[in-house]
Amino acid sequence: MRRIVVSLLKGGVAKSVTAVHLAHGLALAGYRILLVDTDVQSQCSDMLGVRPERGLAEVINGWAEPFEALLKARDNLWLLAGGTALAGVKREISRRDLAPEAVLAETVRTYEGHFDVLILDTAPGWDALLVNALYCSREILSPVSMEPMALTGLLRFEERLEVLQKYNPDLKLKWVLPTFVDGRVKKSAEIMVQLDAHYGDRLAPPIKYSVKLSEGPAFGKTIFEHDPKGPGAEGYQQLVERVLRDAPPASVVRPMAARTEAPAVGPQEPAPPLAAAAEASLSLRGKTLESLKERLTLAQEPPTEAVQARAVPAPAVPSADSTGLRIKGRPYEKLRERLTKYGRT
Ligand SMILES: Nc1ncnc2c1ncn2[C@@H]1O[C@H](COP(=O)(O)OP(=O)(O)OP(=O)(O)O)[C@@H](O)[C@H]1O
Ligand SMILES: [Mg+2]
Repeated sequence: MRRIVVSLLKGGVAKSVTAVHLAHGLALAGYRILLVDTDVQSQCSDMLGVRPERGLAEVINGWAEPFEALLKARDNLWLLAGGTALAGVKREISRRDLAPEAVLAETVRTYEGHFDVLILDTAPGWDALLVNALYCSREILSPVSMEPMALTGLLRFEERLEVLQKYNPDLKLKWVLPTFVDGRVKKSAEIMVQLDAHYGDRLAPPIKYSVKLSEGPAFGKTIFEHDPKGPGAEGYQQLVERVLRDAPPASVVRPMAARTEAPAVGPQEPAPPLAAAAEASLSLRGKTLESLKERLTLAQEPPTEAVQARAVPAPAVPSADSTGLRIKGRPYEKLRERLTKYGRT
């Protein structure tokens, strides 16, 4: 089971929208998906138009059986809902003496082998549940809206990740996803250039600003249902393809055809091992974006986990600069070309 966490410390950057659409897009592609909402706001339920009676808090507290608490939200897509009861869970986790960071990992382990991909939606801000979500994940997808504060938030998030990676060395920032991209706005163009320069290959195809995407939750529909031919659906479809293409090799992912309907309890996977203490802290505090980029490039390692795409190869995916995005009336690739020429990328 791949474990993808959608996270950034900043609020309102489209974390929940991204988690829900990645989950539904992968489910539509035939994968069995478990979407876990770790936020008290329980936005995933609203966005999918469902009202679960139980969720993550009930499972962690032992008030519901792990599989009973799942709600089938769509074909191939199960939801373990968030909700206000998670506030109590956070307090409980913080009081634990033993391995407080591994509470969610224990829950997730129960589902290992029953789903192809686990997707975790997270709340903004750094708290006990976010640490748990990161501790039990392997791939991070960080949506970044087109604001300088979101970019700063990403850098701060990476600083904190370094500490956690000492305990979960499999955890990697795999994708930075530009959201709310509007080619008519100068600020969008500037942030896109910065992201492109500093995250390069890890930059996922951008999601454009879309009124249809913002109104979808009011109908309890995803964009694939609400406006399947529009730019929002196209953007998230490209993200789905990118995530499938970037799967580490030798997967435990199985195609849908080989599966039966209801998940049943099966063999469990051991918890991720605690790493030996890292040698030196790589604190990025106070560093420039340039040195950060250098650092991040050096820090890239080949994937350690055995996860693959399904037997059918994923369709070719356009890169971030070939999605028809226009900045100040110019195609994005032109702008990028010019910046490269003048040594700014
Ligand atoms: N591409 C987009 N275009 C227009 N509106 C969008 C887009 N993506 C998300 N939105 C809207 O922006 C708002 C914030 O999105 P979302 O709730 O996913 O953010 P979030 O990062 O999960 O927020 P929080 O930090 O509060 O959990 C929502 O109203 C959503 O419908
Ligand atoms: Mg959210």
